[in-house]
Amino acid sequence: MRVVGVFDSGLGGLITARLLTVRAPGVAIHYYGDTAHLPYGDKSPAQIRSYVREIVRFLVEAGAESIAIACNTASAVAVDVAQAVAGSLPVFDAISPALKLLSSKTFPEPIGVVGTYTTIRSGIYGEHLRAKGYEVKELATPVLVPLIEEGWVDHPATEAALRTYLDALGEVGTLLLACTHYPLLLSPIRRYYRERGWNVSILSTAALLADAVAEALAPPVLGSAETASTFWVSDLSPRFLQLAAHFWGAPLELRESSAVMLS
Ligand code: DGL
Repeated sequence: MRVVGVFDSGLGGLITARLLTVRAPGVAIHYYGDTAHLPYGDKSPAQIRSYVREIVRFLVEAGAESIAIACNTASAVAVDVAQAVAGSLPVFDAISPALKLLSSKTFPEPIGVVGTYTTIRSGIYGEHLRAKGYEVKELATPVLVPLIEEGWVDHPATEAALRTYLDALGEVGTLLLACTHYPLLLSPIRRYYRERGWNVSILSTAALLADAVAEALAPPVLGSAETASTFWVSDLSPRFLQLAAHFWGAPLELRESSAVMLS
């Protein structure tokens, strides 16, 4: 049994965790959703780094054998902190797999990158992709994460926010979902482009991260019952239980841990 510590600012990272259990059957997940501090996307890098330090420490102490940062925002500003705490354990971030894929073959341009303020401001995607010769359009789309964490996935307010953002981004050949929450909006995003007759390739950092971790875990992990998956949040409310079941696709037992109650 291999235990992968997966974390995100909230419950969106459960999408990556769930995909990982499909790609690497038998893997055990130790998940931490920092629901007390969601969203990360409008916080300072210093603040996010302090959260990441505590979360990784918690997951390693809980028995994680590798760490997957299922959050672009934390990946943009705190991979070094995560690696410093994890020591010799492997740390996977949400950004590298997408950059690797976009560098390995040519995708239709322009590449549209949507993510949180912190991710977009970090410039990490834009700099790397422009250096590869791509035309890139970046846009911070901060309202989407609170809408998704509210459970408003199929909701007119979310549809309107999405339309406003995608209108502002304009025509793209590829859309990179540089936030691990956004796969939940795949249907309305596809609908938006279909209605305009635009053929847009959509890449999900959540799925690419799950692929990268699963690949690193190869050969396939064979099931054993030694370690159960465990899911912690820094703030537990009945609403989070409902949402977790929605994101995970099945009822989930959430435990509260104040390991990351820094402020
Ligand atoms: N899902 C996260 C990301 O990929 C965090 C979003 C947020 O908390 O603002 O950036």
